Amino acid sequence: MRALTVIPGQAGSAAVVDMPEPDPSEGDVLVDGLALGICGTDHEIVAGEYGWAPEGSERLILGHESLGRVREAPQGSGFVSGDLVVGVVRRPDPVPCAACASGEFDMCLNGRYTERGIKERHGYGSERWRVEPGYCVKLDPALAEVGMLLEPTTILAKAWDHIDRIGRRAGWWEVRRVLVTGAGPIGLLAALIAVQRDLEVHLLDRAPGGPKPRLARALGAEYHHEGIERAIGSCQPNVIIEATGVGQLVFDALRQTTPAGIICLTGVSPTGRRLTVDAGAINRELVLENDVVFGSVNANNRHYQAGAEVLVAADPAWLTALITRRVPLDRYAEALESHRDDVKVVLELGG
Ligand code: BGC
Repeated sequence: MRALTVIPGQAGSAAVVDMPEPDPSEGDVLVDGLALGICGTDHEIVAGEYGWAPEGSERLILGHESLGRVREAPQGSGFVSGDLVVGVVRRPDPVPCAACASGEFDMCLNGRYTERGIKERHGYGSERWRVEPGYCVKLDPALAEVGMLLEPTTILAKAWDHIDRIGRRAGWWEVRRVLVTGAGPIGLLAALIAVQRDLEVHLLDRAPGGPKPRLARALGAEYHHEGIERAIGSCQPNVIIEATGVGQLVFDALRQTTPAGIICLTGVSPTGRRLTVDAGAINRELVLENDVVFGSVNANNRHYQAGAEVLVAADPAWLTALITRRVPLDRYAEALESHRDDVKVVLELGG
């Protein structure tokens, strides 16, 4: 079967190659791959900066934003042929640590988790893949065109879940206004969830035009592109969801929080870039205002269920518009390019 693969650590090694049919040890549910979302992590893996192949394999099948249709599933598995499904990305570490033991593998404590298409497990970028029923999520058939948006949505379902939990440290606290920095798929999906919660939402991005401001406004969010200081100054958010990973922006946001503010960091930044910051001023601001800054990665099964509900409740036309390019598998190189007006690029697997 054809699969999009890379040799991790080797830039320029991405290729569609013939790979063996998925091994039954990967799960009892056999799925025809329909489509795959491409994200920043995939770009990093393709650039040779991230990613690990499974033991004994030189190549890693790429892809963690999956969408497929069940071809075969054992009786009693909860799945039948024809079901629209998505595979969960992470698997718990083998120890397992306390987090993995309680099903919260997204919070793994020892780093020995594995991830489909990223860390030591083949991904979902192949014509067929297998998955364990416990890590397979059934989607409403109405999501057949956009279901690959579930995985990125789970990242924000988790971020919001944790914002809620942190917010509960003070009984009177409630989200007043939300600023999302970065209007890529993660930022826009963060804003979508905020809008579904009837919150006042502001989105900040560098793009002065194109699909990003259009998508933000279609949600009913206010779009800013004048810089973080002015955006925070004008909207005074008590929740910031940072989705760019740009170091300067992160520290600028930390300097200007509102009292009892919560800042959730979701962007992974490149390392090695140095900034000069007034660490004392930032520390002072965080302490004297009881602010919380926290990082959030990955998602567990609970967040997949929540994410699926978010997608079902969203406007299908808006979700469709988030996908700015669809590329067939044999033109994979185009799917891995970054174009100026890209929001979400999807690789069609043909299943
Ligand atoms: C994925 C997460 C994963 C993270 C780190 C992200 O792109 O969405 O599921 O945990 O990369 O590998």
